[in-house]
Amino acid sequence: MKILGIETSCDETACAVVEDGRKVLSNVIASQVDIHSKTGGVVPEVAAREHVLKMLPVLDESLKKAGCDWDDIDALAITKGPGLVSSLIVGTETANVISYLKNKPLIPVHHIVGHIYSNWLVNLTNDNGVVKKYARADFSADESDEPLFPIAILTISGGHNEIILMKDHNDFEVLGESRDDAAGEAFDKVARMLGLGYPGGPAISKIAEKGNSEKFNFPVVLLGKDSFDFSFSGLKTAVLTEVKKHEGKMTEQLKADLAASFEMTVVKTLATKLERVVKKFPDLTEVHLAGGVSANRKLREVIRDYIPGNITLRYPQTIIYCTDNAAMIAGAAYFLYQQDPARFKPRTNIVPTTSFELW
Ligand code: KG4
Ligand code: ZN
Repeated sequence: MKILGIETSCDETACAVVEDGRKVLSNVIASQVDIHSKTGGVVPEVAAREHVLKMLPVLDESLKKAGCDWDDIDALAITKGPGLVSSLIVGTETANVISYLKNKPLIPVHHIVGHIYSNWLVNLTNDNGVVKKYARADFSADESDEPLFPIAILTISGGHNEIILMKDHNDFEVLGESRDDAAGEAFDKVARMLGLGYPGGPAISKIAEKGNSEKFNFPVVLLGKDSFDFSFSGLKTAVLTEVKKHEGKMTEQLKADLAASFEMTVVKTLATKLERVVKKFPDLTEVHLAGGVSANRKLREVIRDYIPGNITLRYPQTIIYCTDNAAMIAGAAYFLYQQDPARFKPRTNIVPTTSFELW
């Protein structure tokens, strides 16, 4: 089954074609990073206007790169939310219209559920996003490597963090979540304090490589011994206090030390939470990282030491599956559809939501 996914929740206009929930036939993303880096963050109105310009060209390219025309597409998938409403509406309205015109079932997907399914995606495309000729032969090896339940999933994005226990497809129990700033947001804000630009995550990681992560002793906030929730606002304030102390005499080395110490504090906080989950649920077979911050190299390295060796640790196969993309939306939609195909008909009434409730 081939599903065409559309994702416009923030500042990436993205379309992808995915077969049977895992095989990525195309994954096209028009990024607005250059535009938003000028303002140091996403201006919703600007993002929405840019989505309008990019939506149809990106859609066309995703079909072409997958070698498909509309007859090959069995269903559409769309990010219903949460996200920036004016951005979401460009995608949902496009999906409603195509569903109507092409008479295709339309499957609404929760953005975070999309991130969760990024660990099911198998990258079959080359550097230009074109499907490799030997894709099918290639896939059989990966097919057996399907994630096994039960899985603990750490979703770490710009907007929200969650630890989720997933016992089966679309069976999610939220164990903990962010109480204030999400990890990605903390990366973005600290990068801004240090004058490193947007998006903050990759910028902090890069400069942190030259820094000493033990130079500053920032607080690892765990919110009590049984909690799976997260709070990064205290850490953000602690970094700001140090930045202010060094106003006028900030050096590149000091910036690198601040970035490295901040990054390590976030990593230790996330890793400790996962360590708790693994202890509480001894039947777990896998631990997954998903969302933009799962691209972080230090996190991937350190987290392995916090998790017993018999538990499989996964993060998305390529960095583009960590950050926002439409392949994950098409992937998630497939597993939703499989549970109850009759539920999903052609429809024209999908409207955005900002709710973080999983559905
Ligand atoms: O999941 P995502 O693409 O968008 C949301 O749904 O929010 O996450 C974006 C976040 C940004 O805050 C960005 O700074 C962060 O992911 N990020 C990283 C890295 N790459 C992206 N954070 C830490 N290290 C990275 N390498
Ligand atoms: Zn996201």
